Amino acid sequence: MRGSLVKVAGVCGWPIHHSLSPLLHTAWLKQAGIRGVYIPFMVKPWEAENAFRTLKKTRIQGVNVTLPLKQLALNAADEITQEAQTIGAANCLYVKNGQLVAHNTDMEGFSRPLIGQRTSDELSRSTAIVFGAGGASRAVIAALLALDVPEIILINRTDEKAATLCAQANLPSLYSMPWGQRQAALARADVIINTTSAGMDNYPALDIHLKNARSSALVYDLVYTPEMTPLLAEARHRGLDRIGGLPMLIEQARPSFTLFFGQEPPELDAASMLRKELNGRSNLKAMRDGDPS
Ligand code: ATR
Repeated sequence: MRGSLVKVAGVCGWPIHHSLSPLLHTAWLKQAGIRGVYIPFMVKPWEAENAFRTLKKTRIQGVNVTLPLKQLALNAADEITQEAQTIGAANCLYVKNGQLVAHNTDMEGFSRPLIGQRTSDELSRSTAIVFGAGGASRAVIAALLALDVPEIILINRTDEKAATLCAQANLPSLYSMPWGQRQAALARADVIINTTSAGMDNYPALDIHLKNARSSALVYDLVYTPEMTPLLAEARHRGLDRIGGLPMLIEQARPSFTLFFGQEPPELDAASMLRKELNGRSNLKAMRDGDPS
């Protein structure tokens, strides 16, 4: 008797070696006992649209798409889901009834950890401040709107970018404030979200302090390297509720796994596994850089 065919999925990016997705999906596959593989594919941006279109002719179930290919994935698709349309980028491509579908799981990935800490009733009475106006910010804003957060204040280091994004959205619940007013604005926030790269290893910290923040505020930092960013460390020091970047990383991967392999990921302490990997990488880097610590 012939065994069932091995299911194939993967992640496309350029570069791709740093991606944690293969580790995560492979661990889920193993734990669930699924005959499948999840492979990193290095795809050059100028070849990406063609490469994506050929997916329909292969046995690959689908792929995640990461930087800088997220917009190109939209161009190659036959169908674009509401989420991908709203965010204007796709992080997931899969074949359904012979059609290439572009989807985005970042909204879901961002929302799940948040609704683990705040009820929908609380969120529907909340003011959120979002720092940053790049790709991650768009997904976060879309998620906050979907969660019926009634007041979303967008603040970006380059003021015009935040103002333009809000003007394009043209929604009464979303408006921008100048970077220069960020400290004063914090006093109004129930949820404070960092979508910028500030605070990442080798980057400066986000230039805010939380002394004006409400004691009931929740601080959500999308950065996960390091896991305890300067912003989260200050939030901890002040006794504020916190969410780091690892939960979102895991939660955005879950729906992709279900789409590719036809069942939900199994129970697994994914956060510990990723933490271990990230610590290993940073130790390796410290050794290479000659850092004795
Ligand atoms: P992504 O797609 O991950 O969101 P991006 O599109 O490159 O990345 O956006 C990066 C965001 O981080 C931008 O909003 C950027 O602000 P500018 O528009 O002023 O460049 C923000 N950012 C990066 N470094 C920052 C820093 N040190 N302080 C504040 N904001 C920073």
